[in-house]
Amino acid sequence: MPKDSFFKRIEIPIFAHYYKMKIMIQIHDKQFVPFISAQEIEFAIAKIAALVEADFADETPIFIGVLNGSFMVVSDFMKHYKSPSEVSFIKMASYEGTTSTNDVKQLIGLDQDLTGRTVVIIEDIVDTGNTLMALKELFKKQNVKHFKIATLFFKPEAYKQEVKIDYVGIRIPNKFIVGFGLDYDGLGRNLPEIYQLKD
Ligand code: IMP
Ligand code: MG
Repeated sequence: MPKDSFFKRIEIPIFAHYYKMKIMIQIHDKQFVPFISAQEIEFAIAKIAALVEADFADETPIFIGVLNGSFMVVSDFMKHYKSPSEVSFIKMASYEGTTSTNDVKQLIGLDQDLTGRTVVIIEDIVDTGNTLMALKELFKKQNVKHFKIATLFFKPEAYKQEVKIDYVGIRIPNKFIVGFGLDYDGLGRNLPEIYQLKD
C-alpha cells in the first residue's frame, strides 16, 4: 500500500471524531468548548485496563466504581479488562455546581465483604482528592489485600493530598469539564466526549 493512502485511512476517522463535537455547548448558565475526543478517552481507558491487568491478572480483583460520575468509565474499563474480575459501586458526592466541598457524603454504601480482596477504585476524575481520602478511610476498616486507585482524569494542580494515585488516564489542567459521565449540576453526563468550561 502506498504510504499516503495508509495515512489517509487512519487520519480520516481521527478527524471525524472532532467534527462530531459541537464548537460550543451551553449547559445551564455556562458555555463549554471541545477538549478531549471520544477516541482519546477510549485509548486512556484501554491503557489503564492493561496496566491493572498486568498487575492483577492472576487474582480476581473487585472494581469499585464511584457513582455517579464513573459509570461510563467503569463500563468501558470492564470491556477492556479480559481476566476474571468483579464489579460493584459506591455512591459519594462532594461537588456543588462547579466547586468541590470538603464535606464528602457517602450516599450508597458497600454491601459486600471485602476481606482479603484486591480492590481497585475506579474514578472518573480526581480533583482535590477529598473523595479519595474519604474512600481510603472507609476501606481501612475492611482488611483488604490491596487497595488501588485508578482514575480516568486527574487535575494535579488541584490535588491536595499525599496519597499516590496508582493508575492515571489523562492529566488535565485545573479547569472544570463535563461529559463522559461528568456533569455540571446534573447535566452533560451523556456527552460521549469531554468539553471544558469556556474562559
Ligand atoms: P474531589 O473530591 O475534589 O477529588 O472531586 C471528586 C469528584 O468531584 C469527582 O468524582 C467528580 O464527581 C467531581 N468533579 C471534580 N472535578 C470535576 C469537573 O471538572 N467536572 C465535573 N465534576 C468534577
Ligand atoms: Mg466521581
